[in-house]
Amino acid sequence: MKAVAVFPLSREVKLIEQAEPVITQPDQVKLRMLDVGICGTDKEICTFVYGTPPAHADYLVIGHEALGSVVEVGSAVTHLAPGDLVVPTVRRPCPHARCRSCRAGHQDFCETGDFTERGIKGAHGYLAEFIVDEAQYMNLVPRHLREIAVLVEPLTIIEKAEHQLYGLMQRRPPWIDPAVSERTQGQGHKALVLGAGPVGLLGAMALRTVGFDTVVYSREMEPDPRIAVTQEIGATYLSSQALPTDQLETHIGPIDLVYEAVGHSLLALEVLKALGPNGIYILTGVPGLQTLIEADPATLFREIVLKNQVVLGTVNAGTQAFKAAIADLDVFHQCWPRAVLALMADRIPIEQAAQRVLERPTGIKSIISFQL
Ligand code: BGC
Repeated sequence: MKAVAVFPLSREVKLIEQAEPVITQPDQVKLRMLDVGICGTDKEICTFVYGTPPAHADYLVIGHEALGSVVEVGSAVTHLAPGDLVVPTVRRPCPHARCRSCRAGHQDFCETGDFTERGIKGAHGYLAEFIVDEAQYMNLVPRHLREIAVLVEPLTIIEKAEHQLYGLMQRRPPWIDPAVSERTQGQGHKALVLGAGPVGLLGAMALRTVGFDTVVYSREMEPDPRIAVTQEIGATYLSSQALPTDQLETHIGPIDLVYEAVGHSLLALEVLKALGPNGIYILTGVPGLQTLIEADPATLFREIVLKNQVVLGTVNAGTQAFKAAIADLDVFHQCWPRAVLALMADRIPIEQAAQRVLERPTGIKSIISFQL
């Protein structure tokens, strides 16, 4: 069968032939892969600055944003059957007894760093025609979401963030109002989404859904499909080419929440200066190696303290975030069908994946589709 793999030592990314995997344990499932999304992490892996092959392998099969169809289940699997659509979680627990998070099933908060991530760190990914995995890590997707469910994994990033955000918002008196539920937490508050890539736009959709007055700030200028999506979901678009970061605050007023989804550390730092009093700044981008700058940490930290601000980093997602993402994707699709489909305008056959993974997508997000 075909798969796409990165070879860090020889610095190659290529289509490979592999034996089709077989179920060897009663708790496993076999999937025929349908769609695999390409994201910034895949680009970093394919430029050899991130990612680790499994122990004793000289290559890593990439792909972690996946949708598959169950073709076979092990004898102990009762909650899945052939034909079911599933999105796998990415991270698997570390082996250490001392890791309270992994032992409690919350490997997205792993304390040792010895977790594996399929397609990223120490375990092969899903950009292959078939995969075998443990059934407990599969998230069942309703059949009517077939065309869009590849967006579930990138959507889990905001789902995990939003859950933590709700907890954080309780610290401030007006938010303790019991009438404010997790579904309406943004009402009366302003959010700035930094970056109009797929993670940013899915974040903007999620923030709009819970009531945030949402601004997307990114480098693109009109005309651009990212700007069209922003407008369609009722958010405001501002281009960093037209409005520098030091004018953000004056232009849009106090910002209650920043959702960073670019992985550009300097820009992220500049925008932190625009965060309003009691504001919360959520970092989700994973910056690669970037230019060193001179900084003024005293002023930065003073502002954070004097304004009661929170800076929160968040990575990966657990089962609850996957469940929430599946439910929210359905809501987004009902509210803004064109915007959701526009995210995935670029579908590519696996034969072209190795070349296209490094290119800027012709649409907003590149999806490798096995059924083209
Ligand atoms: C993936 C996460 C992963 C993170 C860091 C992201 O692209 O969506 O699952 O934890 O990269 O490796």
